[in-house]
Amino acid sequence: MKDKKRPLSVAIDGPSGAGKSTIARMLARELGFLYVDTGALYRTIGYAVLQGGGDPADQAAVEALLPTLSIRLAQQEDGQHVFLGGEDVNGKIRTPEVSMAASRVSAFPAVRAFLLDIQRDTAKSISIIMDGRDIGTVVLPDADLKVFLTASAEVRARRRFDELAEKGTAVTYDEVLKDMTQRDYDDSHRDIAPLREAEGAVRVDSSDLTLEQSAAVIRRLVESLQPPADQT
Ligand code: DC
Repeated sequence: MKDKKRPLSVAIDGPSGAGKSTIARMLARELGFLYVDTGALYRTIGYAVLQGGGDPADQAAVEALLPTLSIRLAQQEDGQHVFLGGEDVNGKIRTPEVSMAASRVSAFPAVRAFLLDIQRDTAKSISIIMDGRDIGTVVLPDADLKVFLTASAEVRARRRFDELAEKGTAVTYDEVLKDMTQRDYDDSHRDIAPLREAEGAVRVDSSDLTLEQSAAVIRRLVESLQPPADQT
């Protein structure tokens, strides 16, 4: 049983569209934890490369860009915001182009090293739920709870398509499924920190669950880490 006063860390990893960010945000609100969306950091680097007219697959060019970037996470009333220099990029990093660029740059070791400290520093003093691809394997290998949240590619593509359609983005379901399958492959086959289940992770398949049901499963796991109030 854990010391009640020590900050708890929950790592949620899994492929895109499994519901990680929605579920993690929901749980963080319910439990009073900080939610950290690490994908937004990779997206911000992808966005910066595209803004500069660069090619996200050009490793040397991406590496050369890193020292010029200042990336900061800020917690505001409506949740996490990422700043690139002085610019709040939250509203700009969810496009299909930035998704693909993020996946490309995330394969470069220098990019992962650049973002590691930002992620670890955030987890030092406060209970957090952090989601990504390598949180349980690399960023927080000692997390109190590690969850691998997954769902079938078709279900994940449908969810992402509905999200994009709601925002008015002009894409077809087939394009979203193709992009997702490509990103799954790239994310799990890269040499460094590939997407895989961490040792000791609990696997949750959300294909046949609503977001609320998946959140409830993970919530029970978090609550089992904390001693009941009458035993402290
Ligand atoms: O979770 P997301 O779709 O916002 O992530 C965007 C890209 O960033 C994704 O293709 C993989 C990469 N990523 C990563 O490599 N490691 C993380 N911890 C989070 C995201």
